[in-house]
Amino acid sequence: MVKKAASKTTEKPTTKKSVDSDRFGPSTIRDEVILEVKNLQTNFTTKWGTVKACDGISYSVKRGETLGIVGESGSGKSVTALSIMRLIQSPPGEIVGGEVILNGRDILKIPERQMTSVRGGEISMILQDPMQALNPVFDINDQVGEAIGIHQKLRGKKRWEKVVDALRKVRIPAPQTRAKDYPHQLSGGMRQRVVGAIGISSNPDVIIADEPTTSLDVTIQAAYLRLLKQIQSETGAAIVFITHDFGIVAKMCDRVAVMYAGRIVEMADVREIFNNPLHEYTKALISSVPKLEEKTGRLPQIEGQPPLLYDLPQGDTFAPRSPLKFSEEDALIRPELVEAKPNHFVQLSRCSVKDFDKYKDMVSYG
Ligand SMILES: Nc1ncnc2c1ncn2[C@@H]1O[C@H](COP(=O)(O)OP(=O)(O)OP(=O)(O)O)[C@@H](O)[C@H]1O
Ligand SMILES: [Mg+2]
Repeated sequence: MVKKAASKTTEKPTTKKSVDSDRFGPSTIRDEVILEVKNLQTNFTTKWGTVKACDGISYSVKRGETLGIVGESGSGKSVTALSIMRLIQSPPGEIVGGEVILNGRDILKIPERQMTSVRGGEISMILQDPMQALNPVFDINDQVGEAIGIHQKLRGKKRWEKVVDALRKVRIPAPQTRAKDYPHQLSGGMRQRVVGAIGISSNPDVIIADEPTTSLDVTIQAAYLRLLKQIQSETGAAIVFITHDFGIVAKMCDRVAVMYAGRIVEMADVREIFNNPLHEYTKALISSVPKLEEKTGRLPQIEGQPPLLYDLPQGDTFAPRSPLKFSEEDALIRPELVEAKPNHFVQLSRCSVKDFDKYKDMVSYG
């Protein structure tokens, strides 16, 4: 239940500008929704039963905006992203419902052949592990060039120039020399930049970055994220930024959606989330943010275990971990995502939201 999306319009002047020295870079958000995900549902069939890894996800992103997706391991962040890209392996996975509106049409409905040019062209995904994303037996020119060949139909010298240009855009020094290197000849940071170069080579409208810096050390990570923001301000791309680090969200994102057990439990502007979190899970994630200087790449430690998705409790799936007091009946109610305050959405449950009574009129079970 994401806020009503503005219909696709031509680019409007900047409506919001935030320049914050503590962030990886400013955002220039345009009032044009570029990607809208509506009630997306993806299931996996496993021997233990059906896993609802993405269970009715809805959000939208505007041109120039960065939306963070946070949540513990296994909460469905990557499955949601791969569903948007139509890269879910079937079987065992299947997109069973919802819409993904990109540039005005539902890309879940277009033929796969057409999707091949949408992928990497209009929307691209930068993966977590550069060694997995890069093929060790091809040089960098081949791999960046492949994407450029597919989407821009370029060959020979023109393609080579685009490759060098893409490497230059991600600030790889001596791009003409580096283009002839193989992945193992580059440092981790440089490899991640190459993956970034592939991701941005066709100027996509939307970049999904799935934990793009997990394998990098802190300084290189900061430099890479700053670079992503710079590229965004040059191209106006929308970024969906997946991480389990709320500290990075604060510096990188404009808005954030918190995922738990395949659903969004809270979504709001970054500042609003940090200042007034409503859901107990969000509060726990925020309080587990390590100081950036001492960042170790650890997962947030919060009480209890993430639930098994094939054996979810009925009703409020967070109830077993919630520190609040509530009745057994309360825990059996499946909460709705409501706009509790302007642009601040929360999955409203007596089990997970301390201020439930303040907002209870918004739901039938209040
Ligand atoms: N191939 C698969 N077969 C069966 N279940 C799967 C498969 N891929 C994902 N899942 C299920 O989907 C859930 C969500 O996985 P996903 O990769 O989206 O988590 P994530 O939030 O990206 O976690 P992480 O932070 O570790 O990357 C998993 O917990 C698992 O139950
Ligand atoms: Mg993941």
